Amino acid sequence: MTIAVTGANSSVGLNLLAHLVGDDFGVIAGVRSERAATALPASPSIAPRIASYEDIDGWSEALRGASCVVHLAGILIEWPGTSYESANEGTAAAVAEAARRAGVQHMVLVSVIGADVASPNRYLRSKGEAERVVMDSGISSTVVRTPILLGPGTAGAASIARSIGQGKAKLLGGGRYSMRPLDVDDLSRAIVGICRSLPQGTAVHELVGPESITYRELLARAADVAGKELSFGVTPIWLAKLGAAVMSRVKGGGISPTVIDVITADEVVEKNADEALGIRLTPLSETLQKILP
Ligand SMILES: NC(=O)c1ccc[n+]([C@@H]2O[C@H](COP(=O)([O-])OP(=O)(O)OC[C@H]3O[C@@H](n4cnc5c(N)ncnc54)[C@H](OP(=O)(O)O)[C@@H]3O)[C@@H](O)[C@H]2O)c1
Repeated sequence: MTIAVTGANSSVGLNLLAHLVGDDFGVIAGVRSERAATALPASPSIAPRIASYEDIDGWSEALRGASCVVHLAGILIEWPGTSYESANEGTAAAVAEAARRAGVQHMVLVSVIGADVASPNRYLRSKGEAERVVMDSGISSTVVRTPILLGPGTAGAASIARSIGQGKAKLLGGGRYSMRPLDVDDLSRAIVGICRSLPQGTAVHELVGPESITYRELLARAADVAGKELSFGVTPIWLAKLGAAVMSRVKGGGISPTVIDVITADEVVEKNADEALGIRLTPLSETLQKILP
């Protein structure tokens, strides 16, 4: 069975490729540049494909022969030349249409907790639009909404490791917002299971980690695991948003008030999809051991 992964050079993509190769799948690893292709692991099971998301025929050609496509390309932080509309909505629309033309049976979209076409937050709205376009595309699909992801190479893990390395952390609003960090290995296992079973129709799952924890507690736990001292400072959220509003306007991108609203929102789910997706969640302490030196 062949699985295609778009945005294959992303942190989730690299983890997923390792799981797919380990489970003896053939993999089409889709990226949008030669530079991105060089980040892909060399393996006889992995066929790298390069295509622009403006070239639906190119993607359709790249996806031919895949039973399932997992779409991972997407952003939280905008930069000049890359917007939520192009990176989140545009890429999902292009891949859904290319998958339909290529006869792919199922599409998996990795989305985010809080995605909603009616959200006042532009990022969450764009992820909601990406979900809508995939579910309306005519091929069967599964949306997996995720919280902050922890694993080697993820932005969340890098940020924790940086704070531990520096021995101090400046926390937005004191880090009192709660999250449900998910081990990226658990996400990959869930995606592999979906691809293997190729479910009919459309479904939305919210898959989060085993514990609800504030960001401050998460850093304290990480410091414990690493055996390091960590001191905390506080940046008021209103001040961070004011600075972000000015800097993102000057630079044409970067951390914006939209991003800060996402980071500092409580991650709440009604029903964790771990059982429905047949996943045994990795305990948080085990996940932290994987990401800390
Ligand atoms: N990491 C998390 O905590 C988290 C949480 C919830 C949801 N997610 C979602 O999970 C997916 C993977 O996340 P990740 O953290 O692994 O991503 P990542 O490492 O930041 O990689 C982002 C990927 O998106 C591609 N991309 C960026 N801008 C693009 C654009 N304008 N057009 C086309 N492709 C573009 C990148 O390609 P280039 O390298 O070529 O730029 C790369 O393949 C994303 O959709 C993300 O929104 C992640």
